[in-house]
Amino acid sequence: MSELTNRDLRHEMVDIARKMNASGINQGTAGNISQRIENGFLITPSSLPYDRMEAGDIVEMDFDGGYAGQLRPSSEWRFHRDILKHRPDIDVVLHCHSIYATTLAVHYKPIPAFHYMIGVAGGYDIRVADYATFGTQQLSDNALEALEGRLACLLGQHGQIALGKTMESALALGREVETLSRLYVQALTLGDPPILSNEEMDRVIEQMRKMSYGQMPDADGINDVPKKRDS
Ligand code: 13P
Repeated sequence: MSELTNRDLRHEMVDIARKMNASGINQGTAGNISQRIENGFLITPSSLPYDRMEAGDIVEMDFDGGYAGQLRPSSEWRFHRDILKHRPDIDVVLHCHSIYATTLAVHYKPIPAFHYMIGVAGGYDIRVADYATFGTQQLSDNALEALEGRLACLLGQHGQIALGKTMESALALGREVETLSRLYVQALTLGDPPILSNEEMDRVIEQMRKMSYGQMPDADGINDVPKKRDS
């Protein structure tokens, strides 16, 4: 978990929320972000435009659903809480309504391994969670299931979720999921593209791990990153 203080993390959360909209993967007050802290998590408040949001508006929550702060937490606090609770491998949850990922999500179209970069989401595909009303426990349950063994998923008729160890890495993955979605929508206009085999995707994922590529956790002792020379 990050060594940054909660105050630093609140400032970073405002910055990342604004970057989410500026980078084009979200608009308006859609989307939300959470960051694990000791005994709970920080989360963006509900329905507050990001350009008006300040560090003091970020809400602190515990895993029982209690919160401290002037504003109410994001309506999606349940899936943020449940993902952070069940996924000790990640510290940040980012949700947005990016256009191409949502285009696929409204058709319940998972993204298969049509391109090797699907591996950055941790597996052979990016799944679509079944639809449930926003803010409900059912949506949280559906999202957790779609995220099993993955770092990202689409939410049926809703948007996408990207996970990370840091806010920057979760944002980078959210942007990557959007790029892959856009490529896939475009590729489909020429017919169904061929799909990489699970064996090849195992090699891709291993290669990403060895090179600490994207969000892949470091592969203990076998990192194949280039060594920086002293001079
Ligand atoms: P909040 O403003 O409550 O975070 O809701 C936005 C959203 O995207 C709901 O899914």
